[in-house]
Amino acid sequence: MSNIAYIPGDGIGEEVTRQGIKVLEYLDNAYNLGLKFEKFDLGAERYLKTGDILPDDVLNKLETFDSIYLGAVGDPRVEPGILEKGILLKLRFYFDQYVNLRPIKLYKEEFSPLKGKGIKDIDFTVVRENTEGIYAGIGGFLKKDTPDEVATQEMISTRKGVDRVIKYAFEYAQEFGREPKLTVCDKSNVLTYAHNLWQRSFKEMGKNYPDVEQNHFLVDAITMKMVRNPEIFDVIVTCNIFGDIITDLGAEIQGGMGMAVSGNINPESISMFEPVHGSAPDIAGQNIANPLAAVLAAGMMLRELGHGNLTPKVEEAVKDALENNMVTSDQGGDLSTDEVGDYLVQNLKSKEEGE
Ligand code: NAI
Ligand code: MG
Repeated sequence: MSNIAYIPGDGIGEEVTRQGIKVLEYLDNAYNLGLKFEKFDLGAERYLKTGDILPDDVLNKLETFDSIYLGAVGDPRVEPGILEKGILLKLRFYFDQYVNLRPIKLYKEEFSPLKGKGIKDIDFTVVRENTEGIYAGIGGFLKKDTPDEVATQEMISTRKGVDRVIKYAFEYAQEFGREPKLTVCDKSNVLTYAHNLWQRSFKEMGKNYPDVEQNHFLVDAITMKMVRNPEIFDVIVTCNIFGDIITDLGAEIQGGMGMAVSGNINPESISMFEPVHGSAPDIAGQNIANPLAAVLAAGMMLRELGHGNLTPKVEEAVKDALENNMVTSDQGGDLSTDEVGDYLVQNLKSKEEGE
């Protein structure tokens, strides 16, 4: 039994996550997973009607769920940041989702922007610290709006915060890594306090995982390696800001935002799964949005819910959709959002019957 809070959100959020729900409902029936869904109407409509962003009673209710499946939030009628900060960031912090899990996986050879690098080369996972670092919000102004203005923004690394994300990354590598190998990415040659702590934590924690190969790249060097030799990576663990930047590079080498998925994870609490793209107001309501990232996010959620055997099945279905051009126009196909979802369910079903 798993209770899933379903937040379609704004714009194309509803259209793309509907396909993820279709896939989940099919798998639920086929494998008796006992999934239960409850929909939450958070987002622009509710905010514009009632002024509610993420009320306490909703937060309290969300605490009773096992997982959150989210589309996207953000709407041109609402000032930027209100919904993004008030819903997304608030959920991440409230549930202390300290891991941002970002698989960088190429599903179709033709999508690779890297000469000579294909599906077998571009397949790794970034574990980004999601609650600390320079995004912790510590800082301030002195003499604001004067010629003598000073602005500070501090980088926070706590022993507990660094240890727990590195531990997660080691365990992830051990369980799901190919080799397994864990690379720590930092700037310890210049950030000699914050990233010295990262180095010590990594080395000490690493002693508990002798079967996981361990190595280190500075962040500037890793951007070059991700382009030149992506095949050397298996799992990468890094701080908040570097993770933010290298996962966008990663999204590009895996074929763009249409394929990028994000898990905001607290292994001891409630995790949240979403496509990386936003609410795309420019194409909302037309049934043309690409649902593959949202479907892959649903597949990733299954693993967190203890159905890791089904995650590769979802990934295979997505791969088949791409190979057979059963995709939306942004990926060169001519299907609607709903038709792609139907294809994926059909694809899963036909394999099941073939087994
Ligand atoms: P966006 O990702 O929504 O759109 C950027 C471009 O990519 C647009 O041309 C859009 O049509 C296209 N696109 C995005 N997803 C697509 C899909 N599934 N299929 C086909 N085309 C797709 O980013 P943008 O325009 O910067 O932001 C729009 C709104 O979304 C803003 O309010 C922003 O704050 C919010 N946003 C929310 C996020 C979230 O909920 N996690 C993440 C990023 C942005
Ligand atoms: Mg980003």
